[in-house]
Amino acid sequence: MNMPALIETARALVADDKGILAMDESTPTCNKRFAKLGIPQAEEARRCYRQLLLTAPGLGESISGAILCDETIRQRTDEGTPFVTALDDAGIIPGIKVDAGAKDMAAHPGEKIAEGLDGLRDRLAAYVPLGARFAKWRAVIAVGAEIPSRGCVEANALTLARYAALCQEAGLVPIVEPEVLMEGAHTLERCREVTEHVLRTVFSQLYTQRVKLEGMLLKCNMVLPGLTCPTQEPAEEVADATVKCLLRTVPAAVPGITFLSGGQSAELASARLNAMNVRFKSRVPWALAFSFARAIQQPALEIWRGDASKVVAAQQALVHRARCNRAARRGEYTASMEGG
Ligand code: G3H
Repeated sequence: MNMPALIETARALVADDKGILAMDESTPTCNKRFAKLGIPQAEEARRCYRQLLLTAPGLGESISGAILCDETIRQRTDEGTPFVTALDDAGIIPGIKVDAGAKDMAAHPGEKIAEGLDGLRDRLAAYVPLGARFAKWRAVIAVGAEIPSRGCVEANALTLARYAALCQEAGLVPIVEPEVLMEGAHTLERCREVTEHVLRTVFSQLYTQRVKLEGMLLKCNMVLPGLTCPTQEPAEEVADATVKCLLRTVPAAVPGITFLSGGQSAELASARLNAMNVRFKSRVPWALAFSFARAIQQPALEIWRGDASKVVAAQQALVHRARCNRAARRGEYTASMEGG
């Protein structure tokens, strides 16, 4: 294991107030988003869309890394340039999603376990020559009256830790993503309690599996009220609850926390990240960064809708969202940045 190289990559992914563009939706998820907008659910449409994203002029000013999926990492631009090379040329570090999706967990109704450990060592070894320098694995934790269960949290934490150890062995920085879902009517306090428990369990397993914390990144949810909770706290309260939870659970050796957006609107995700950095940036040991998919991509996707004449406008919307989130990392995002 080349620890200095892993540490350098992990730090580079959160350097200069930049963040990560998650564009690693699985084919079924990407197709579902395309179907809602009447875009053909075909490999060529997915290639055109991903090309639009990663060739957006100026993207590298705000984006440090991009997470690809197995289909995308093998694709090329219209000119025949491998996507990975196009990213490298833009100064963006290529990464790869390696979990095989969250499946129903046996004996645990309503809960999921992320699969994909079988054969992972060989798959990771194959992604390195393709140009990947980091990886992502997402575990989802649902919140309900009786869940999450101990079995679900512990199984996902162990799986994340085994994935992370295999990544570091292969020379890839693992992004460890335990996502407490927003679906439900639970309160912000319940989300904080569940997130705290999940992160404690994950870091305990990372320690047991000998993962080097300096050479990984945490990708987690913000502490938020459920989507249908009648009380929706302001950004400052979300920021306080999130950072309080992270200070209790995430060791200082971890270089950065790259939040997922989880279904928040693009503007809310930026405002909440901004509030965290305004209030805590100078006082926390890790970077408070972003690794959004929907909160960066959605406006661009809605403009493009499969229409080649809309590529430039869609790219401008994408780069705008990336800039808003870089501003949020600096605590300089304001609502006046929107709507221009
Ligand atoms: O694994 C989840 C994605 O990388 C983040 O997606 O920002 O739309 O929640 P999201």
